[in-house]
Parts: sequence; structure tokens; C-alpha cells
Amino acid sequence: MVFSRWYNRTLNRIWGFVEDRTSMRRWALRPQPEFSFKPSYWTGAFVANAFFYQVISGALLLLYYQPSTATHATFTSCGQSLGTTSPAPAAWCSTYYIIHSVPMGSLLLSTHLYGAYAMIFLMFVHFFRGYYLGVYKAPREFSWMVGTLLMVMTLGMGFTGYLLPYTQLSYNATNVGLVLALRLPTVGPLLGPFILGDGTSQGLLSRMFDAHVLLIPVALGALLYAHIALFESHGIAPPSTSDPTQRRRFTDREAKEHVPFMPHILFYIGKWALLYVGVLFGIAALWPWQLPTYVGNLAAQQGVTEPDWYFLWLFKLVDFQGVTPVIAVAVTTVVLLFVLFLPFLDRSKRTHPRDRPFFVWIGTSLLAFFIVMTVWGGETPGVQIPTVQVATTLGPLFLVNGLVVLLFHWRYVRGYRRRLASRTAAVPYTGAYLPPPAGAPAARPEATGRD
Ligand code: HEM
Repeated sequence: MVFSRWYNRTLNRIWGFVEDRTSMRRWALRPQPEFSFKPSYWTGAFVANAFFYQVISGALLLLYYQPSTATHATFTSCGQSLGTTSPAPAAWCSTYYIIHSVPMGSLLLSTHLYGAYAMIFLMFVHFFRGYYLGVYKAPREFSWMVGTLLMVMTLGMGFTGYLLPYTQLSYNATNVGLVLALRLPTVGPLLGPFILGDGTSQGLLSRMFDAHVLLIPVALGALLYAHIALFESHGIAPPSTSDPTQRRRFTDREAKEHVPFMPHILFYIGKWALLYVGVLFGIAALWPWQLPTYVGNLAAQQGVTEPDWYFLWLFKLVDFQGVTPVIAVAVTTVVLLFVLFLPFLDRSKRTHPRDRPFFVWIGTSLLAFFIVMTVWGGETPGVQIPTVQVATTLGPLFLVNGLVVLLFHWRYVRGYRRRLASRTAAVPYTGAYLPPPAGAPAARPEATGRD
């Protein structure tokens, strides 16, 4: 008891000293409300944490990796040591060297690869959470739009990184991806000369490498800075609600009562960050990544062309009968534009999903489409799918989704009507879904720190 009091007092004094001498209250991120101490409020911070890990592990990999297709570089002999006749390119050999000769290299490379999967997965979680809870509504429209650009950049990181080990699998998949990317309206022809360079394999690898280690990370870092600056100016989005009058910013006075970022929120996020790194290392140690064979290995069997899981849906789309690369790119562009301009398409003031059945239907359909197509793409890569099968598989998906959303919405409206009917005039109107009964007193401000 005495010890714990002494311990707390000492800790407080030390922290007070650090806080005073660093003036950290001036530069730390703004305080946040108590209710934000839940992982669901910090999904973006988890993505940012995953990004930082990618930067650190990527910088270490750079010490050994050689972005060269030449077979006369330092690790030329690795092709022969595998018992093959065709020499292996340096990019692949240096990856082989990282896995087999660099101390803990396999762990480093595996965590970098699985970290990329985790970052993309967490980004989707962050995106869908924001989508369903309507965080994109005023005043966070620009946060959402910058977030959409971050999503494109993150997927770009995955795409450009896939080629770097220079395996036959990644080479083939990158070529299919390039055919699609270069068909993007307006952007495609502009990107073409930049991506393809002088038209040689080395030109392509160099540019992918450049984009992966420099251009995209710098753009991503700058966008992340803007994203966090916007977050900082608006504060965290309050919980979603059916109240159309909800104010979506905290006043300065309310903010004063919030929990300081340093050290409370930082430690809270740091705890999850440590868990993330621990789990990543655990998975990488148990299931280290296996390097597929290299580009130009004549002795190897030609496998199917397959991208990483987050692009499988797009590859499957091209397998559909009648879907040309142009159509696949057009579908992707429409989805991207929908996401980008969502804050201006969903104009309702209510943020709760139960009040936005149409957008919930679209979101759920998109999510289900993505999952089904990913599994489909993984199970039958490159297998052509006739139109009838496409219609009988995807049609019910959209239909059933629509019916389920409608059913929930109908139950909600009916339940609300019933509650409204049984309510006496003395009960104040809380600002929920339907207009207040005539003569009902006005709503009181809620106690969650928002009005
Ligand atoms: C590399 C990808 C991304 C990173 C690193 C990132 C990071 C962050 C961070 C650190 C926050 C602060 C709150 C939190 O931790 O959740 C945040 C908030 C936000 N993000 Fe992202 N984000 C990314 C992608 C996206 C995407 C794809 C969208 C949507 C299209 C998006 C939309 C938003 C919005 C609207 C907020 C404000 C939410 C609130 O106030 O609760 N972000 N993001």
C-alpha cells in the first residue's frame, strides 16, 4: 500500500518533469474522449502501425536485396546450387540469400510479406468500419477522400512489391496486372512509359523497385500526414447515431475534459502495436514464407498465374465470359469513384447503419462480392466462367443481401413506430428516426460528450 503510493507519486513526478521539459502538451496529438478507449476507434492507428513496421523491415531488406535481372551479380551461383541449368537472376538470388544466409533473414522477409497482408487487411477493416458507421459525414469528407487515396497507394505498394523477388509466379501476375493498369482511362497511357521504361525486364523491375521503395512510400507518408492532420483538426468521430441533429465535433471546452494523448492514448495504441508485432513474428516463425522458383527457370513446371489474395477478385473478374480487361478496369474505376465521392452521395444526416439501408446494402454487397470473388479466384485461378454461372452465383448474393437489409430495416422502423405509439407525451423526443409526436418536448443533450 505504502509502496504503491510511493510508486505512483514517483512515476507522476517523473512524468510531470518530462511533460514540462518537452512541452509535449503543445505538440502532442489532441486529447480524445474516454469512450475512444476501444480498439474499434483506433483501426486507422493500427494500419499506421503496420505501415511503420513495413518501413522498418523494408529498410533492413534493402541492405541485401539487388533489384537486378542480370545473372552475373554476386549471388549467381544460387541457381546452380538448386540443381538447375538456367542461371537465376540477381533479384531472386538476393532474396534466396536473405532467406538462407542472412541471420534471421527468413523471419525478416516473412514478417515483411505477412505485414503487407496484415496492413491491407487492417486497412479494409478501417475502411468498412468507417463506411458502416458513417464516419465520412460532415465534417470528415476530406479525411475520407484522402483515405481513399491511401487505399490506392497501399494496394500499389502490394502490387509493386510482388514483382521484387522476381519469381515466375510474380512475374506472370505482374504482367496481367500491368495489362489491366495500362487500360485505365487517361491514367493508363500516362503511366505506361513510366512503368515500362525501356521495355526490357530490367526496365520494369527497376521501375517497380523505385515505386515500391521510394515513390509510393513517400506519397503514402505525405497522404498519411494529411490524413492525421485532418483527424487532428476534427477530433475522433463520435459514435454513430439516429439523431440527425448530432454535432460531429467536440467543443474546446469538452476537449479539455478529454484524456491527453501523451501518455494515455499513445500507451493504449502502443500496447496493441506490440501485440501486432508479436503475432506477426509468431506467425512468421511458425510458417516462414517459401520462395517460389525464379523467372526463366527452364527446369521448373509452369504453374498457374496468381496474384496475392487482395487482387484475386480482379483476376477472377477477367475470367468471366465477356469481361475484357477494359470492362474489368471500368468496374474497378466505378467502385473507386463511388468510394471517393461517397460523402457527397450519402447526404442523410444520420450516421447509424439502420438509417442508411441503401448504403448498407451496397457496402455489404461489395464486401460479399470481394470475399466470394477472392475465394473463387483462389480455387479456380485462370478458369473461364460462363455468363450463366456468373449470374447464378453473384445474382443471389446481391438479392439476398438486399432482402436481409430490407428485413432489418423494416423491423427497425416497425419497432420504432410501436415504441413511438406507446410513448406518452411526457417522454421527451430523442431525435431518433421518425418525426417527433406533436407537442413532445425537445430532446435533452446526450451525456456522451456531444450535443
Ligand atoms: C494506409 C491506410 C490508412 C491509414 C494508415 C489510416 C490512418 C488513420 C488514422 C491513424 C486515423 C485516426 C483514427 C483512427 O486511428 O482510426 C484515421 C482516421 C480516419 N480514416 Fe484512415 N487510414 C487509412 C486509410 C483510410 C481509408 C481507406 C479510409 C476511407 C476511405 C479512411 C478514412 C478515415 C476517416 C474518415 C477517419 C476519421 C475517423 C474518425 O474520426 O473516427 N482511412 N485513419
